[in-house]
Amino acid sequence: MKGVLLAGGSGTRLYPLTRITNKHLLPIWDRPMVAYGVEALVKAGITEIMLVTGGTHAGEFLRLLGNGHEYGIERLAYAYQESAAGIADALGLAERFVGDDRVVVMLADNILEYSIRSYVESFEAQASGARLLLWEETSGDHLRSLGVAEIGEGGRLVDIVEKPSEPPSKLAVTGVYMYDPAVFGMVRQLEPSARGELEITDVNNFYVKAGTADYDVLKGFWGDAGESIEAYYAVNDFVRDNGVNKD
Ligand code: G1P
Repeated sequence: MKGVLLAGGSGTRLYPLTRITNKHLLPIWDRPMVAYGVEALVKAGITEIMLVTGGTHAGEFLRLLGNGHEYGIERLAYAYQESAAGIADALGLAERFVGDDRVVVMLADNILEYSIRSYVESFEAQASGARLLLWEETSGDHLRSLGVAEIGEGGRLVDIVEKPSEPPSKLAVTGVYMYDPAVFGMVRQLEPSARGELEITDVNNFYVKAGTADYDVLKGFWGDAGESIEAYYAVNDFVRDNGVNKD
């Protein structure tokens, strides 16, 4: 199992903080944000990781993470995304790194209270396909800014709607995605969305439509620290008070 940590994007929702650094290097409590994603993957037993970033501060990731050994990473690779062309575009850069292996993809601004190890183990036991981590959200406004799952009979995943005006459920799609190696063929078929990006939701829907996407509903806290300045501080407060990536 390989890990891909996505730390690109332009971070416009956190301007002007992100005019002077990459969003994923901003502090969350006592560490730069990206360190929590590294910890989540390493604690799940994933020690071969590619970090994908872009923009004008890419070199700082090398300064922070180096060869990764200090963080428990055995092999750390880096890729550079030339433009902020979306999550699925960034994932496409990891094709040769992942090869015929499976991959856990994580957005480096997503912070989880509990370790993802058990979900990764469930994916290892799955014959093929994809596994998504969903999180129950009660705020309709928040759901409208995320990807939201539509659940059919027997709890089956039937669709994912990106930023729905009418959320089909309370289950938000978080930024942790697990895929078999077929994912890269799907990325190559994508067309840019209305916001000009290759959408990870379109990738997920390939699997959903093929009937090969399964999911878990996360326990505990989940936050996207890059979503807004309010979310950034809410995540900071949570991490300081409770700790994250707990067993
Ligand atoms: C992205 C995904 C969305 C998901 C969210 C989680 O949104 O497109 O489906 O719910 O990450 O953090 P974005 O941050 O690109 O708006």
